[in-house]
Amino acid sequence: MGERYLHKPVLPREVMDFLDPAPGKIIIDATIGGGGHAVELAERIAPGGTLIGIDRDSESLKIAHEKLKASKIHINLVNKNFRHIKEITENLRLGEVDGILFDLGISSIQMETAERGFSIKNAGPLDMRMDRNQKLTAKDLVNSSDEEDLALIIRDFGEERFYRRIARAIVSARDKKEIETTDELVEVISRSLPYGRGRQRIHPATRAFQALRISVNDELSAVEEALRDAPGILKKGGRLCVISFHSLEDRIAKNTLKDFRARGILKVFTKKPVIASEAEVSENPRARSAKLRAAEKL
Ligand SMILES: C[S@@+](CC[C@H](N)C(=O)[O-])C[C@H]1O[C@@H](n2cnc3c(N)ncnc32)[C@H](O)[C@@H]1O
Repeated sequence: MGERYLHKPVLPREVMDFLDPAPGKIIIDATIGGGGHAVELAERIAPGGTLIGIDRDSESLKIAHEKLKASKIHINLVNKNFRHIKEITENLRLGEVDGILFDLGISSIQMETAERGFSIKNAGPLDMRMDRNQKLTAKDLVNSSDEEDLALIIRDFGEERFYRRIARAIVSARDKKEIETTDELVEVISRSLPYGRGRQRIHPATRAFQALRISVNDELSAVEEALRDAPGILKKGGRLCVISFHSLEDRIAKNTLKDFRARGILKVFTKKPVIASEAEVSENPRARSAKLRAAEKL
């Protein structure tokens, strides 16, 4: 396995503590990605355990398969949107499960593969689809949405205060020439922003890129639907872990868990989200914005 497939799992110890995987258990990794968490889960539920790994990205599933193929447990890898987690679990006829992990967003493998078009740093086609069978790409969105829609996407999914400037700049650039690549878009966005923005900790195009990615993949509604269905799939005593990387996802996780707690369905372990230690962040910068919430089915 080469460097190319490296994806360090985020908050691995904390996830294992909450999920409590043990021999014979049935665990769903709803975002198996590069298999970082899954490899450790597989080790801990052996012998006799079952791991269901879901990802809408078939390329990530291939990587996860490679990593897990030597493991001695039952493994089902499912190339679907986790939005359908209930149906996926029912179809496998495994009954209720012991644990579910959601590690949201994209993996470092997806981010670092320039041709996937997620990255601000590596120039590639303006794509951003997690599922490459999907028709809509970021290029379609950027070149075809009207200015108002673009502005609202950037405002609502990027929480970007300069959403109007950016939308206007995109429309005026594409009137001259279609925007085809990530570096062209980065340039258009960066030029539209006031001087001084470049000195911030994050790249000036980060929020707009996040917004487009969330919109292309319709990410938030999938998280909402899956989290609403998750407690119904868990056994009594089963555990749920959700790792999010931005405030929009974390708000959904927080509110959904709160609602299930109020209805006496879940016990929530994390009053405040668990965040990564300084040591983890220094080894794995992606962990910097990770927030973990965990709960148990009552
Ligand atoms: C942060 S990565 C997971 C990394 C994994 N935990 C690991 O340690 O290697 C998130 C993964 O979830 C997938 N994903 C995101 N949203 C999804 C959805 N709605 N349905 C299925 N997979 C999704 C992405 O394609 C990506 O591979």
